[in-house]
Amino acid sequence: MTNLHTQDLITTLTPREKIIQLEHIFKVYGSVETEVRALNNISLTVGTGEYCSIMGPSGSGKSTAMNIVGCLDSPTSGNYYLDDVDVAQMDDKELAHIRNKKIGFVFQEFHLLPQLSALENVMLPMIYAGVTSKERYDKAKKALIRVGLEKRLNNKPTQLSGGQQQRVAIARAIVNNPVLLLADEPTGALDSHTTQEVLDIFGELNASGMTVVMVTHELEVARHTQRIVWLIDGQVVYPHLTPDELSKVMVS
Ligand SMILES: Nc1ncnc2c1ncn2[C@@H]1O[C@H](COP(=O)(O)OP(=O)(O)O)[C@@H](O)[C@H]1O
Ligand SMILES: [Mg+2]
Repeated sequence: MTNLHTQDLITTLTPREKIIQLEHIFKVYGSVETEVRALNNISLTVGTGEYCSIMGPSGSGKSTAMNIVGCLDSPTSGNYYLDDVDVAQMDDKELAHIRNKKIGFVFQEFHLLPQLSALENVMLPMIYAGVTSKERYDKAKKALIRVGLEKRLNNKPTQLSGGQQQRVAIARAIVNNPVLLLADEPTGALDSHTTQEVLDIFGELNASGMTVVMVTHELEVARHTQRIVWLIDGQVVYPHLTPDELSKVMVS
């Protein structure tokens, strides 16, 4: 793996260009006897505008890492700079504020509210942002158009296919125009056709300048990204594989 250029890439990025900078991040669960080091000294940098996937075996810490990167959880120790702001020691209220402003999150299960329409689900994150109802409506509609659901604004989740529900979830994630889109196994519950639709949307969002980081266990999904970060046992084993390099690692 000597030809990997991770170090070069990191050192040539100025602080402003690093959107995610994790330094010696540990996340420890349980007491001393039952201790689980879900993250065991992770240092990782992602540049603004990158499109990466995080891969690794089940239990390797992918979701834990995503939750910390997404400000849904705090590390036990270590530094985390998000868009140049140190967020590692922030309390829940401060984290919620940052999250609302900077981050969109997409999960494997769509987490839509069943009693609300597509439009209402997408309007929801803006309730906390002090946006007028007209503006909420306009922005939600625009986000749903962006994911190709202009004809489904008033449908409830049960009236939508799995792929359409995930697109509503993506619209909800991007409605506040985040700088960072995080997705934890976003295609895990989808068939291959719908997976492609979701990947097309991520590709377009990345092309428009959004940084996208996605957890996946499927090489075919990771192939759509520019860079693969490989975790094992809470550690970054390969910080910067290209999809082709990963195929070689997997067969060797
Ligand atoms: N809330 C928790 N309490 C205790 N252990 C946890 C908790 N969350 C995750 N873990 C453990 O941390 C490790 C990493 O989990 P996770 O980040 O979910 O892995 P992955 O997403 O790669 O499957 C696993 O050993 C898991 O059992
Ligand atoms: Mg997981």
